[in-house]
Amino acid sequence: MFHPRFGMLLTLAALLHTGGEAHGGTRKLQFPKGFKWCVATAPHQIEGYNTESDWWDWENLPPACDGQACSCTVAGCEKSGAACDHWNRVEEDTSLLRELGVQQYRMGIEWAKVEPREGVIDWAAVMHYREELRLLREAGVEPMITLQHFTMPRWVRAHGGWEWGGMPEAFERWAEFVFTEIAPDVRDWVTINEPLVHLGGGYALGVTPPGLGGNGKGDGPRNTCSGSYVPTPTPADVERVIPPMLGLLQSHARAYHKLHAVARAQGKQVRVGIAHHLRVFDPVSKLNPLHLIAAGYFDGFWNWAVPEALRTGVLKVSIPTMISVKETIPGLKGTQDFFGLNYYTRDRVWAKFKNGIQVGLSTSRNVPLNDLCWEIYPEGIYRLLKAVHERFPALPVLITENGLADAEDSRRTRFLQDHLKQIHRAMREGSDVQAYCHWSLLDNFEWVEGFGPRFGLYEVDYETQERKARPSALFYSGVARNNGFLE
Ligand code: BGC
Repeated sequence: MFHPRFGMLLTLAALLHTGGEAHGGTRKLQFPKGFKWCVATAPHQIEGYNTESDWWDWENLPPACDGQACSCTVAGCEKSGAACDHWNRVEEDTSLLRELGVQQYRMGIEWAKVEPREGVIDWAAVMHYREELRLLREAGVEPMITLQHFTMPRWVRAHGGWEWGGMPEAFERWAEFVFTEIAPDVRDWVTINEPLVHLGGGYALGVTPPGLGGNGKGDGPRNTCSGSYVPTPTPADVERVIPPMLGLLQSHARAYHKLHAVARAQGKQVRVGIAHHLRVFDPVSKLNPLHLIAAGYFDGFWNWAVPEALRTGVLKVSIPTMISVKETIPGLKGTQDFFGLNYYTRDRVWAKFKNGIQVGLSTSRNVPLNDLCWEIYPEGIYRLLKAVHERFPALPVLITENGLADAEDSRRTRFLQDHLKQIHRAMREGSDVQAYCHWSLLDNFEWVEGFGPRFGLYEVDYETQERKARPSALFYSGVARNNGFLE
């Protein structure tokens, strides 16, 4: 069964391998047999009415006014509301996956919907997700489950979120519940999405729940079009991230072991990891030693502190004049079966002496940008894959997210081609990449940016909730069906 409006067209194009503006040459970039082509989403961004979550409360905070102007936690004071109404359109959206021809779908299960109050299970929500997974299986699409993607139930937040002493146990119970009651046949599990984006936004910049750091009103830096977009972090900002980080890592470790134990008891195998948000940090000026040193610290802290903690069991952060942490987390050592890699862009790092040392990030100039002014830098994924391979040679890599905001769809096909070429290049040189999940299937609620940015292979008309395949969906469908494309 194909989606009535676009299915035939999409399949035909994919089989003929035209893929819109997709290809130029005749040499096929072939991926290994069994490689999984995938798309990714997150529940709060697409399902709608996540009313029992901390993010719902965050979006609904009254505007903060200072006499001159008012600002909201989300751009344009938008709220997620019905989002893409995916909750009521699971069948339709599964048919989109089917017409894309992808083999895997990364989706989240929303804790706030399944356990809206502590200890109270909403069995209708459980049934809903069971049905969604059944539809995916029927469509021949393997699910990959995310247990926490930036949101948590209101009651968990009220306890203190990742800083709550009971969190590791609660999160372990959540993981066990999802496996046993909802997804007993799923192999690939992401416990937590992007720890540093999640905690950096919430505890250092103050732009996401619980809104600590920054100016505390949720109207901190949110887009990069203005040039320099990360102000000098204070030691207090960085320190504030550590206690929730320790709780998050303990929670991950507990969930990791529990998922393995419950799967083993049923004679099944699971692969469990975290989706890490890696960025390339290059100096604004290569000739400026301060810029170079600061870029090195950003890379060390942002990209590697968490993955290395999963390898060694020790969270080590050391930034002169700012922070020095070395904490052993029981049970954490060796708790990733794959390296989950989310990649979007590169940052330029600067540093200068002015009332002490100041450091920050800015966008490159005169480079291709997406609609959010993030640099489009395909070679970055190659560089990061090489770095992952050097540090974690034994781990398979799942690219759990990669995509761009491009409302006109004028850059997405090229973006895909260029990034896939760089991934292939890293694979030829030894990287064991086993899956590629494009972000995202649909346009969706882009957190602090609201509905403005368009990340979807499918365009969503939020008035009618109509989905429409963009030309890049044709290209991606060709890639997924042919396991490669003509360069
Ligand atoms: C997040 C997604 C988000 C995407 C684009 C990632 O950091 O996991 O939820 O929509 O980036 O900003």
